[in-house]
Amino acid sequence: MRAVQISELSGPDAIGVAEVPAPELSHMLTPGEGVLIDVAAAGVSFPDVLQTRGLYQLKPDLPFVPGAEVAGTVVQAPDGSGLEPGQRVVAFTVLGGMAEQAVAPRYLAFPLPEPLDFAQGASLILNYHTAYFALKLRGRLREGERVLVHGAAGGVGTAALQVAKGLGASTIAVVSSDEKERVAREAGAGEVVRSDGPWREQAMELSGGGVDVVLDPVGGDRFTDSLRSLREGGRALVVGFTGGSIPEVRVNRLLLRNIEVVGAGWGAYVLIHPDRNHEIADAVNGMVAEGFVRPIVGARFPLERAAEAFRTIDERRALGKVVLDVREPSNPSV
Ligand SMILES: NC(=O)c1ccc[n+]([C@@H]2O[C@H](COP(=O)([O-])OP(=O)(O)OC[C@H]3O[C@@H](n4cnc5c(N)ncnc54)[C@H](OP(=O)(O)O)[C@@H]3O)[C@@H](O)[C@H]2O)c1
Repeated sequence: MRAVQISELSGPDAIGVAEVPAPELSHMLTPGEGVLIDVAAAGVSFPDVLQTRGLYQLKPDLPFVPGAEVAGTVVQAPDGSGLEPGQRVVAFTVLGGMAEQAVAPRYLAFPLPEPLDFAQGASLILNYHTAYFALKLRGRLREGERVLVHGAAGGVGTAALQVAKGLGASTIAVVSSDEKERVAREAGAGEVVRSDGPWREQAMELSGGGVDVVLDPVGGDRFTDSLRSLREGGRALVVGFTGGSIPEVRVNRLLLRNIEVVGAGWGAYVLIHPDRNHEIADAVNGMVAEGFVRPIVGARFPLERAAEAFRTIDERRALGKVVLDVREPSNPSV
């Protein structure tokens, strides 16, 4: 079968497409068992790009097939999984997803919600499950609260805007360009401010004295201002570090206004608590049914052009989710 392959750790330019053996019906997290999927679309994310340089916590032996999440059709599923051959599914594969066939653990494979196409399905798990896990389970977001989302036109950012709205919160998006402002609005942002402008002052004003939650996939210098933009009792959710540097916190800031810095690592949590995945999927799928969740697919590329897909993220040009069309004819958009 055809698959994207990483054979050296020198960044997106070294990505190739190769003929590799089809996967066994076994996943590394559930040896001897798994859901085998004909992949229609594979999601591309920031962590995949980190993997091309060996900078992600997961460091597979070379060569390897990247790809953490897919949408497609079930070929074979374990008895009792509730999945049937031919059924449309979304799945988190961890690795190996950017290929014509891939295997997922049964607890990370779910029916593809009816209103979504395969490309949207390939955008659902990593970003939306993370957004729900971060905002609701870690951030304890309540109806009527105000959320500030950094990197709001990116994959996690657009998902966070929609999930926050689905949880009854209002949102302020922080973005770096006009184009990203358009995408944040398309994702449903209540307000949009610019990362190179006085975003903290604007957020204080727009929220009437501070936000309740900051969701931060960016990190870097702006973290202190994120803490300053929280109201009393607020929570800053640490999700990622696309800005490149890991911020440090002077903890006196936390006690002065009774605020919290909360780590939100979806993968680290759900792999240890596999039984919680269906609860998160049910909540996200409920928001699909209610119309709050509609993944925004930015650029789409055929499998052969995977390197371009990776470069789109690497060069900070991604809008919403970047997707590889694995089987269907693609209509590349950049
Ligand atoms: N904690 C978890 O469980 C979890 C799960 C999934 C992903 N993540 C992490 O979340 C982060 C975001 O992932 P993503 O897929 O949403 O990425 P993405 O689509 O590329 O979006 C990242 C956003 O970060 C902003 N950014 C600021 N400085 C940047 C820089 N120097 N380079 C690139 N982007 C920069 C960009 O927005 P502006 O240009 O508007 O500033 C961009 O839209 C990553 O660090 C990823 O590893 C964490």
